[in-house]
Amino acid sequence: MSAENEKLRPRPLLIGLMGCGKSSIGRRLATRLDMPLIDLDDMIVGQAGMPIPEIFKRFGEAYFRDVESEALRQIIKRQAIIATGGGVVLREKNRQILKSHPPVIWLKASPEFLAERIAGDPNRPLIANEDALQKLTELADARYPLYAACANLVIGRDDMNKDDISTLIINYLHKETNNAQHD
Ligand code: S3P
Repeated sequence: MSAENEKLRPRPLLIGLMGCGKSSIGRRLATRLDMPLIDLDDMIVGQAGMPIPEIFKRFGEAYFRDVESEALRQIIKRQAIIATGGGVVLREKNRQILKSHPPVIWLKASPEFLAERIAGDPNRPLIANEDALQKLTELADARYPLYAACANLVIGRDDMNKDDISTLIINYLHKETNNAQHD
């Protein structure tokens, strides 16, 4: 076990709009904390045997949300860093699960920041063939309150790079662990 994680028990669960860096920051955390990473989207793709756009196209978004909810339920208790898909907060049941398994960390990015990075990405069916900025603005309006309701820590994504965000999360986890030990 590395020195960096020897006292760490809480595992971070990352939420936020598509393109905010949940998976890539999750990978950095996994390396630095020497913990496994579970990426819900990857898990769904693996189980379905097809990419997400194809799941949406063949079975529809509601089916995808069912599978996503089931995947969340299956892995929520695992000692692993969890990177979620941006829409995981849409269902009330999922929000309850997230809230009861802290720490939940919201990587809060502006639609402008995200649109620059993911406009035209064919792997993201909700923005493919759409005006990315407009769609992301709609998603932010609808989802920011849902992310806020679940998050124990909110990190402004626009002004920080992924390494600094990873460090901030690790420091937060250390602090949480120390607080728990002194309770
Ligand atoms: C979605 C986000 C995607 C993926 C699916 C739906 C969403 O994950 O789960 O395309 O509703 O915002 P990322 O947030 O990892 O892109």
